[in-house]
Amino acid sequence: MFCWPLLLVIVPLVSAKWPLRGPSPHVDGVPASFDCGMRKLAYTYGKKLLPRMGAFESLYYALDLNSADCHTDLKSDAHVDDVPQPELPTDAIFVSPDGDDLAAGTISAPIRSVQLAVDVAASSNKKNVVLRDGTHYLPDTLYLEAKHSGLTIMGHPGEKVEVSGGTKLKVAWKAYNVTGSTNIWVTDVKGQVNDIRGLQINGERATRARYPNLPGGLETSCGYGCMVDSKNGKWTPPDFNKYGKVKYYTDEIPEHHRNNTENWFNNYMIGVNGLCSVYDPPVSYWCSEHPSGGGAFAFRTPSGLTYDFPNGPYVNSEDATLFVWRPARWANWMFEVANYDSKTGNFTFGRGGNQGARGSNEGGDFFIEGVMEELDNPGEFFHDKRTGQLYLFHNGTGAPPADATFVVPQKQVLVNASGTQWNPVKNIRLQNLKFSASAFTYMMPHGVPSAGDWALDRYGAVFLQGTENYLIEGCTFERLDGNGVMVSGYNRDATIQNSDFAFLGGNAVAAWGYTNETDFDPGRPGVKLENAPAAGVDGTDGEHPRRTTVQNCSAREIGLYEKQSSFFIQAKTAESRILSNVFFNGPRAGINANDGFGGGDEIAYNLVFSTCRESGDHGPFNSWDRQPFLTTVRTGKPSMIMQWREIHHNFFIDNYSPQEDVDNDDGSCYYHTHDNFLVYGGQAMKNDFGGHSNHHYNNVDAYVGQALGVCDTIKGQEDYFYGNYVVMTGTGVGTCLDERMHDNRYFTPDGTISAGCSGFGGTIAETPSDEAIFTEARKKLGLKSEVETVVI
Ligand SMILES: *[C@@H]1O[C@H](CO)[C@@H](O)[C@H](O)[C@H]1NC(C)=O
Ligand SMILES: *[C@@H]1O[C@H](CO)[C@@H](O)[C@H](O)[C@H]1NC(C)=O
Ligand SMILES: *[C@@H]1O[C@H](CO)[C@@H](O)[C@H](O)[C@H]1NC(C)=O
Ligand SMILES: *[C@@H]1O[C@H](CO)[C@@H](O)[C@H](O)[C@H]1NC(C)=O
Ligand SMILES: *[C@@H]1O[C@H](CO)[C@@H](O)[C@H](O)[C@H]1NC(C)=O
Ligand SMILES: *[C@@H]1O[C@H](CO)[C@@H](O)[C@H](O)[C@H]1NC(C)=O
Ligand SMILES: *[C@@H]1O[C@H](CO)[C@@H](O)[C@H](O)[C@H]1NC(C)=O
Repeated sequence: MFCWPLLLVIVPLVSAKWPLRGPSPHVDGVPASFDCGMRKLAYTYGKKLLPRMGAFESLYYALDLNSADCHTDLKSDAHVDDVPQPELPTDAIFVSPDGDDLAAGTISAPIRSVQLAVDVAASSNKKNVVLRDGTHYLPDTLYLEAKHSGLTIMGHPGEKVEVSGGTKLKVAWKAYNVTGSTNIWVTDVKGQVNDIRGLQINGERATRARYPNLPGGLETSCGYGCMVDSKNGKWTPPDFNKYGKVKYYTDEIPEHHRNNTENWFNNYMIGVNGLCSVYDPPVSYWCSEHPSGGGAFAFRTPSGLTYDFPNGPYVNSEDATLFVWRPARWANWMFEVANYDSKTGNFTFGRGGNQGARGSNEGGDFFIEGVMEELDNPGEFFHDKRTGQLYLFHNGTGAPPADATFVVPQKQVLVNASGTQWNPVKNIRLQNLKFSASAFTYMMPHGVPSAGDWALDRYGAVFLQGTENYLIEGCTFERLDGNGVMVSGYNRDATIQNSDFAFLGGNAVAAWGYTNETDFDPGRPGVKLENAPAAGVDGTDGEHPRRTTVQNCSAREIGLYEKQSSFFIQAKTAESRILSNVFFNGPRAGINANDGFGGGDEIAYNLVFSTCRESGDHGPFNSWDRQPFLTTVRTGKPSMIMQWREIHHNFFIDNYSPQEDVDNDDGSCYYHTHDNFLVYGGQAMKNDFGGHSNHHYNNVDAYVGQALGVCDTIKGQEDYFYGNYVVMTGTGVGTCLDERMHDNRYFTPDGTISAGCSGFGGTIAETPSDEAIFTEARKKLGLKSEVETVVI
């Protein structure tokens, strides 16, 4: 929610070569020289964090460093050759895309099926499966169980091994409508695939026919554009009686009453069924009796939209999907069409509307997709399910090239390791593999993982549940239509490292635990969950991820379909370590904590920028804490109080839709945010709606509107603000913290500062030079004094 007026106006730039956009130098009240120098520093820091990326071309272009007014050379600061390659194990079973399942599985006689290889390995003493060069199109999800424990599945060192969830089409393109600038071709795909929602041509996405068009195609962010303005549509109100009555549950047990916030979020509360029947399980905080916090009211969605699309009316409206932002752009909903009145352009929504947790009577900006009449722009495709014909508006002249590959993402999950807490899958290692072409999951069941603003689907190209010591090392997750990695339920010490995520439909990595809110959860099929809903508060039964590490990864261009997507999101998950990653170009917050379950997380040494490119508020990091949970994380004994979270030595740039770099929203508590370089945003530190125990210290906060805006706290739960170097665009310090505010160095344009109380806890001077700010920042980031030099 917009708790603070946006002080900075960003005029985004589009880089010609890459579908990436960088921070803009045109920020009100900020010298262009600072913006440029800061971006160069980000480039240096990113290369330092991930030396294996060499010149890190995508980072360079995302920071817009090839521009005329802010230019630096694209060059590597490290020796990329030093990146170690895995060794080829001696006792492996070999798999090749053109192997034979009757072969011996040796390097010279590889088999073809990865599943067969892992099953043979499980029943022998071989512990390695090596995939050879090429694309392994999976006929089915690769399943790993407890019996596969100890197995390494790796791409042959030095080879390019792709594991694809797609089906390669056999095509014979015929001209369909090739007139003037129209260049539409058709091919028969009957019997090959049933539904084509995604199409990859030579490994890049084509765009499902839509209105309004995307000038750069699906993989290039349109920012706030390429939508029909919400106010041009007429929204059919929610049907409040559609699913019958909601059942409220509020935990009134005194020992579960969180006493440390001032009348905010003291009790665990949920509502079951009612309008939350769109979720599976049908439960949400936003259906509870008293949902509270920023902009709070009970969940609902509009039940239809009337809009006269210029290329309508549509003959086969049942094919359409309407993508609708929730107003204020907190998440987007996808709706199928149940009914369509072609005379009035009145769509009644069918399935969908469950892709976010926050409701509204009306929709926000929207677009339509999947109807033949909208096939009017280069790069678009339309699949007619009735006739099995695939139409492509080829982006080029003449027919689509005969040697191009056309892949339709089909499998939602590529690797599924599923065990239980009592019989876990242990010590699996995935290494040197590229995962591609998993199918879309945005119409699959979604749940509300806890009381943040999120809804999630429990899917991922790589899915983990009931695992210990799962390691993903040196893998690439590219052009997956859902999430990259889903760490679901019981998982201990899962590690994802030295891996790269790009062009994803959903999140890069999501970690999502369980508590028993309902008797049944589709994520734990066949298990009768005990003590629901009373056990909804109770996270002591271990069914959640702990000690998940994501380190030395890059992630970019995520959330192409589901806009409430992050590089890392966690819910009912504790002790995560998010270290040394480089994240940029996402539609919403970069790293998101959906609740305060357990705590003990560490977020450090990350470079995060160009988040919230298409949405409203937040910043590189966002958190909520609206639902208290009982866990043993803090002391080993059940407690309603979480362990502190640490956010340190990060370089965050809040360059789109800026609110705060670290947005501690509704009730967030127990944060140590220190030694970071935090650039832009309305304020350096935030707490609201009962948020407390927030310590912001020794940070460099560059060009923020004001220093802090926090709410009242009760005794023993106070906030602190000290030792910070705060460069402000305004002159008001913000909230007064008395003696808990000290040793800060404030800088304002005219060297004056206004405070609501006698002191503001520090010194005041005029805006420092760029170099003075960078000197302070480099100390936090461990960079040598020369901008271009790196300490490795
Ligand atoms: C991750 O990167 C850091 C900083 O470059 C480095 O010190 C560390 O060894 C790396 N860790 C792994 C597991 O590669
Ligand atoms: C071919 O495309 C043009 C331009 O979009 C359109 O006017 C015409 O009606 C189309 N013809 C057919 C047969 O669909
Ligand atoms: C069409 O191809 C051109 C040249 O490769 C590219 O610049 C453009 O973005 C593409 N358009 C779409 C809509 O994909
Ligand atoms: C909150 O205070 C009440 C009344 O003093 C007490 O019974 C309860 O145990 C406290 N809750 C917690 C989580 O400590
Ligand atoms: C669209 O249809 C719905 C359902 O029949 C109706 O309630 C609504 O009033 C209609 N909207 C308009 C603008 O006609
Ligand atoms: C993963 O496999 C388990 C066991 O077969 C199954 O119950 C579960 O639904 C699968 N998960 C996904 C996301 O496909
Ligand atoms: C949740 O249900 C599972 C399965 O029945 C059970 O093992 C577990 O103890 C329950 N958790 C709580 C906190 O009651």
